[in-house]
Amino acid sequence: MPLTRRSFLAGTSAVAAGVAMGPWVLRSHAQAGPIKIGVVLPYSGVYAVLGESITQAMELVFARENWTVAGRKIEMIKEDDQMTPKTGIEKTEKLIESDKVDILTGPVHSGILLGMRDKVHNTRTILIVSNAGADDVSRGKCSKWIFRASFSNWQPNQPMGGWVARNVAKDVFLVAPNYAAGKDMMTAFKETFLPAGGKVVAEDYPKLGETDYAPYLTKIRNSGAKGVYCFFSGTDAVNFVKQFDEFGLKQSVRLTGAGFLVEPDVLPAQGKAALGIISGHFYTPLLENPTNQKFVKEFRAKFNNKMPDGFACQGHDTAETIVRALKAVNGNTQDKARLVEVIEKTEFDSPRGRFRFDPKTHNVIQPYIYVREVRDVHGGLNNVVIDKIADVRDPGTGCTLPA
Ligand code: PHB
Repeated sequence: MPLTRRSFLAGTSAVAAGVAMGPWVLRSHAQAGPIKIGVVLPYSGVYAVLGESITQAMELVFARENWTVAGRKIEMIKEDDQMTPKTGIEKTEKLIESDKVDILTGPVHSGILLGMRDKVHNTRTILIVSNAGADDVSRGKCSKWIFRASFSNWQPNQPMGGWVARNVAKDVFLVAPNYAAGKDMMTAFKETFLPAGGKVVAEDYPKLGETDYAPYLTKIRNSGAKGVYCFFSGTDAVNFVKQFDEFGLKQSVRLTGAGFLVEPDVLPAQGKAALGIISGHFYTPLLENPTNQKFVKEFRAKFNNKMPDGFACQGHDTAETIVRALKAVNGNTQDKARLVEVIEKTEFDSPRGRFRFDPKTHNVIQPYIYVREVRDVHGGLNNVVIDKIADVRDPGTGCTLPA
């Protein structure tokens, strides 16, 4: 910023007053700089498309505010976690220690979130999770300083277990990548699938980033399963869905899963192979509420006609939470405990419906988990709502936040 006579005088008088009045004024002087928002996301690797959608929607929300809140500029400092916990933790440390960010956001990968958790908690850094669903962060590892504007891994999957058993198949093969999110999601599915009379024919966990699913598809074919329930996302979702179809399994086995499998970030690459897939998610761009209709229109206009996905909705809600909280504290990011109080109370109309955090866990309460089917409607492949389950909140077992 150029040093004008006015800003120079304002600066010198604040310093002079600081000498006379003690540290409080010096602190408020420091508050005149930009508000730094740290972003730890994958911009390369299997989940790069997720990182892109989250970032784009955050930028859209900050641009609506002219990148200024309560008179302070918003600055996003973006770091590529490269999908590895080691890099994710290093980038987190850099953002906290060197950049001294006011608020941290991200990551996508549950393993990275679990790796970051203690650093964030011990440094009392406010983290708004914009994707990673690791259940433990809403349970035994919950933290006063951590909020989640996305989902817990349990949320889209637990309601789907009973639904699949009642409406799709009782003999089901489970498959998901071999890391925390894959395990969380399949466990949540079984929680309602088994009591509804479902039988897990077999379960398998390929490595995250697998490109050849043939050995797994062979096992599925030989298992006699009538349905598959899976979690895959990013390029894994593209590869799995296309190979499932190429293998000729679609004719005999119903493919179902967590909604990430067929979000608009991957649907165009999957093409007709995705038709008929049933999945559970808190969002579809087809939702008819006015906030979503405005969001879809603005997002498509800004990003080359790209359809927003659930990840974009999460980016929107992360940034909207930040904007509202910063306004409520009039741009004062020094008093972290006050900022936490304000974030806890933040509520607004999101593209997914009414957005609010569960005071018990700091995890978002999903207004609905929608059961959706991929159909060729409205000029392309879309996730059409065929059923819904209201008010889905993580059980938060083992989480006790300090008052
Ligand atoms: C996760 O690792 O928590 C994760 C990643 C991608 C998704 C959902 C969850 O689509």
